[in-house]
Amino acid sequence: MPRHPSSSNLSLDRRELLRGALGAGLGAGLSAGLSAGLGALPAGAAEPGAVSLKSNPFTLGVASGDPAADGFVLWTRLAPEPLKARGGMSAQPVEVTIEIADDPEMAKIVRTTTETARLELAHSIHAEIEGLAPGRDYFYRFRAGDAESPVGRARTLPAPGDALAQIRFAAAGCQRWEDGYYTAWRAIADDKLDFVFHYGDYIYEYGHTDVFGYDKRPAPRTMPADFPACYTLTDYRRRYALYKTDADLQAAHASCPFLPSFDDHEVANNWAADHAPGNTPAEAFLFRRAMALQAWYEHMPVRRAQIPHGPDVRAYRGFRYGSLLDVAVLDTRQYRSRQPCGDGFLAGCTEADIESRTMLGAAQEQWLAARLAQAPATWQVLAQQVLFAQFDWRGFPFVKETAVPIIDVDTWNGATAGRERVTAMLQAAKIANPVVLTGDLHRALALELRRDWRDPASPCIGVEFLSTSISSVGDGPATDADRATMLRNNPHLKFFSDKRGYTRHVVTPKQWQADFRAVDSTATPGQPVRTAQTLLVEAGRPGLISQ
Ligand SMILES: [Fe+2]
Repeated sequence: MPRHPSSSNLSLDRRELLRGALGAGLGAGLSAGLSAGLGALPAGAAEPGAVSLKSNPFTLGVASGDPAADGFVLWTRLAPEPLKARGGMSAQPVEVTIEIADDPEMAKIVRTTTETARLELAHSIHAEIEGLAPGRDYFYRFRAGDAESPVGRARTLPAPGDALAQIRFAAAGCQRWEDGYYTAWRAIADDKLDFVFHYGDYIYEYGHTDVFGYDKRPAPRTMPADFPACYTLTDYRRRYALYKTDADLQAAHASCPFLPSFDDHEVANNWAADHAPGNTPAEAFLFRRAMALQAWYEHMPVRRAQIPHGPDVRAYRGFRYGSLLDVAVLDTRQYRSRQPCGDGFLAGCTEADIESRTMLGAAQEQWLAARLAQAPATWQVLAQQVLFAQFDWRGFPFVKETAVPIIDVDTWNGATAGRERVTAMLQAAKIANPVVLTGDLHRALALELRRDWRDPASPCIGVEFLSTSISSVGDGPATDADRATMLRNNPHLKFFSDKRGYTRHVVTPKQWQADFRAVDSTATPGQPVRTAQTLLVEAGRPGLISQ
């Protein structure tokens, strides 16, 4: 499918376009047609940043997301100059046409609709399409003026209760742009999946730097020097725009629907509810959070239900894939307790075990309990952000040796009572096959979940697959010299890798297959992507089987 239209005669902002047309010395017929109804234009050169006649407004690609059985969200954003403050657009609203077809060639159009792109939302489009058939592919594109977007593939959810033979999807995230190329996103596009769960860290808020990683290596890609740390709406919008100019990321979005969520770096490192590191007062941080989450909404294929209200976004929600799979997308940032003991990888933090501590907050816990109480699917996914399983980090390179376990209190290990409440919910609802999906750590892990982490003999009740990063922290070693220590300290850990990539899940009524996909190197584009390890779970028998 074409990645960009080759040229376009745009009617994005008709006054600016007309100026561009006149400046380019184009034919009087075009100018006369465009000026009809505009009245007399003031004399003078085009305004700074005006859209030129040849500008492609679809520089950020297209996306589908948040599917329903009869439709999905279709997203794009008009940004002919994507790194500029307004994306190269004026305040003029622009009508955008959306075409939906049965075929990738767009020969059999089944629906045409229009939406208006406005500067208030960065000229983004979130078209909620309804009335389509369940469980099938559709193809779509956008038109603005005479410009035509690339074609994307979307897919509706199956009809409720449908018995599916198989679902294939990816879990991915942590894509710091400077740290490496998005080869993993190209591989995800090539997989032609049913959906992608994005666990977060779609952007990183940090300012321009030439180095990256713990050992300060030269960055494979360098952000422009005028990209400071994100604090304002313009900062966050420009950051999303930079990331979304990547052709591999655009290909992944065009390939299938995404279920977006967010973690910390969409706002600020390790934020928790109204608290940000650095002891910024809550009333100030919440303005930053509001701007960050507005930019998140503007750049994600999510529904009107996810429009921010001030600093608040309803990001937890569910998706049902017939009787095979239920996906509860969770939000572990907005409602959590502040990290205990000052945050970090810590030994002996008893504050982590206080009964009132939570990762979801009371309302989301109630929502999850109600969802689990519905007729269960064969597999129940908790699609979320931070490590759920108990984990001792002794043995990891930057963690000091101690006599007692070292825990990362930014994870569920910093709110053990909240973890126990979720575990109790799974037990009460008799969920036979829970699968927790996670990101955050920039390593790939597969773990078995225990009913009671205080009892080493406690039975396995489900599994957790933690996806490594798409690019963040760059290449890791193929084998980790300290892995043996971590495996010894964490008998429920069944796989650990320090490579970049993603996890591909192939789900059937009898078996869950997790392929840990690893990129040879993210330092240069186009490197091979391989399956480093495959792990299986048999339905009804919680536990991991290595292939
Ligand atoms: Fe990350």
